[in-house]
Amino acid sequence: MIKVAPSILSADFTRIADAVRMLENAGADYIHCDVMDGMFVPNITFGQKMVRDIRKLTRLPLDVHLMVQAPERYIEEFADAGADIIIVQEEASVHLDRTLQMIRDAGKKCGVALNPHTPIRVLENVIENIDAVLLMSVNPGFGGQSFIPYSLNKAADLKKMITQRSLAVDIAMDGGIGAHNVREVTDAGVNVVVAGDAVFNADDPSDMIARLKLIK
Ligand code: DX5
Ligand code: ZN
Repeated sequence: MIKVAPSILSADFTRIADAVRMLENAGADYIHCDVMDGMFVPNITFGQKMVRDIRKLTRLPLDVHLMVQAPERYIEEFADAGADIIIVQEEASVHLDRTLQMIRDAGKKCGVALNPHTPIRVLENVIENIDAVLLMSVNPGFGGQSFIPYSLNKAADLKKMITQRSLAVDIAMDGGIGAHNVREVTDAGVNVVVAGDAVFNADDPSDMIARLKLIK
């Protein structure tokens, strides 16, 4: 089963409640919340307040993708705001092991995101203790960018690492995914598809979610 995590970043922020309702009705599996700090990435999006407000609107799991330098500073706040899964960028956390421990101590699921250039091997020592890996298939910072093809090799390598160790870690991919390439992405081993532009700029967002879940 392929899961879809639409990125709320691509929604109209003046109509978030409508977007959340639409995602629920369309069978989205998560709501992906892209938090950007203007330091780790060149863009600024939103913070804890937005996550807290979305939490009030839905029971869908919120996966919070922190594109934030030194994310350990904010784990407790996002946990308290209602995140279900907290994903930190490997490149942004000097003491990644400690940061992941903080997420688990807060009672949340934890994930590690890798920039396109970051090799899978950096996960070797933490893979046993995480719930998800988020492979960035664009350089993070903006929605609507083009998919970087070598990401597919990384998904296949990660799949191998996870299978060899008999783990049940989710393989998520984020950036530039739409109806045109979702099949390649899932064939490479990805089981959670993150999509912003493809969903929110579709003529029929619900139909697009079904297509991304490969049920249409
Ligand atoms: C990229 C973000 C993504 C992105 C996805 O910096 O982490 O979640 O907004 O959007 P699309 O699907 O438009 O590439
Ligand atoms: Zn993201």
